[in-house]
Parts: sequence; structure tokens; C-alpha cells
Amino acid sequence: MSCELISGKEISKKVHSKTSAQVAELGEKHSLTPSLAVVLIGEDPASKVYVNAKVKKCQELGIESKKIILDKAATQAEVLALIKELNADKSINGILVQSPPPSQINEEEIIETILPIKDVDCFHAQNVGKMLLGDTDGFFPCTPYGIMTLLKESGVDASGKHAVILGRSNIVGKPMMSLLMQKQDGANATVTVCHSRTPNIAQFAKQADILIAAIGKPEFVTADMVKDGAVVIDVGINRVDDATRKNGYRLVGDVAFEEVSKVASKITPVPGGVGPMTIAMLLQNTVKACKLQAGIQ
Ligand code: GUN
Repeated sequence: MSCELISGKEISKKVHSKTSAQVAELGEKHSLTPSLAVVLIGEDPASKVYVNAKVKKCQELGIESKKIILDKAATQAEVLALIKELNADKSINGILVQSPPPSQINEEEIIETILPIKDVDCFHAQNVGKMLLGDTDGFFPCTPYGIMTLLKESGVDASGKHAVILGRSNIVGKPMMSLLMQKQDGANATVTVCHSRTPNIAQFAKQADILIAAIGKPEFVTADMVKDGAVVIDVGINRVDDATRKNGYRLVGDVAFEEVSKVASKITPVPGGVGPMTIAMLLQNTVKACKLQAGIQ
């Protein structure tokens, strides 16, 4: 089977040009510049990379960004005070606190403190509830929204297909399930969610027309777990030791790419698949937040 690469790198460029045009229009017609506050607590190296990538993309597209780095020992009260300040700041449209925070921080309380209209991650219960109800006026969470866009742009209609999601996280698995099963164009899938207590995950994975791996285990999905012609979306970004690399590691997904690409009809690479889409959709949400706050359709 010849396997087509679903390039998030290329598809995200399309989304970025749309965002860039929207930013220009907001400036020209309304004298508005969308703005995003990105909060990083601590020094987790991977989180630092993600936060810097988000800020850099904002700069490229003309979105204002404010990077705030708090000490790894920051207290819950300090973080809450910062969020309240950002909530009240009219020059900030979107607020993102990079996950995961250090262990002393109660992430749920932080998320629930962010004003829903500034919650560009779509982590707040109000926005998650709206999404579940099929309300398209609010935000969609960036990674699942990016995956829906990847499917659409690569000509995969999920309607009537069996989508199997590996992983039930709040960031990916649960919202992915919700978006795929919606009664909306590009969705309408039958969805199965597998997780750490699912016996024989391989048996479920093998039934998938669309397989979404978000389980956080390097190269977990092997060729024998994938149906011939399936579409495989790899959400994993895992660092594995590699003495041949200067930095001592390489990035691999949750899918054993080489062998699975011999069975799948379409597959996302790691890196360059889902990752760039997460940032692209975050910036789409930031533009949407700016419009919502200004009362622009
Ligand atoms: N950590 C991993 N993915 C994300 C994301 O989409 N948003 C935030 N805030 N943190 C993350």
C-alpha cells in the first residue's frame, strides 16, 4: 500500500496565512491587534521549547504576545493573582498557561480562573461543555481542532468511519472524541476511546478506519495493530535516547512510523505532523478571542 504523508508543516502554513489575513483585516478595519499571554511556570525544557515556538509564531503573524515566566517554586496564590491581572487587562485577548505546571500547582483551579472568553486553550469547563454540546461559537481545543483540520485538508471525511482514539486525556483524548462524534461536516464518526484499563488495545486499534494515538508511549502502535488502509494520526512527541545525536536524544511519536506507513493509507510524521497544527489553531483561537471581545462577527 502506498502511504501518503499528512504534513502538518504544510497544512499549518495554510492556516497561518488565513490567520495573518484576519490579523491584517482586524488592524485595517478595526485598529485592533490580537494579543496572547503565554505563562510558563518553571523550567521544563520541552515546555520552554513549546512556549518559545508559540511566541515566535505570534511575532511572525503580527499577533502581540506577552511571555511570562514564573519561578518553578511559584505558589498557587501567585499564579492566581497573575491570571486575575491578565483577565482584567483589556489589551490581552488570550491566556495560556503551559501544561503541565509544577506539582505544587492546582491546575484545575488555574484553568477555572481564566475568563472563558480568554481561554484560547478551551480547557475551561464552560468552553468544554459548549464544545460537547456542539456549539461552534466558542473555542475548540487546539490539538483536536488541529487534527480535525488535518483530516479535512487531506480529504479524509470521518463521516460513518470508525475512529479509535488511544488515550483519554483532557487535552487530547476526551475532546477528540467529542469533535469526531459531532453531528457536523467532517465529523459524524463512530468513536471508540481506549485507555490504560482497556484490555487488548491492539484488538480495538485494528478495527480503526482512523486511528489517533495519544497515549504517550514511544512507538506503541506497531504495524500488526493497524488495519490495511487506515488513516493514522500520531499525537505523541517522545524523547528517546540516541547517542548518535548531538543532543543525545531524538523525537519519536506513539506510532512506529516506518512499519505502520507500510500498512496505512495516510499517516502524520513526528515531528511535522500534529505539533505545528496545535500552534496554528491556538493562533486562530486568539484571533477569535479578539473578535469575540470586540463584538465582531
Ligand atoms: N501542553 C501540551 N499541549 C498543550 C496545550 O495545547 N496547551 C497548553 N496550555 N499546554 C499544553
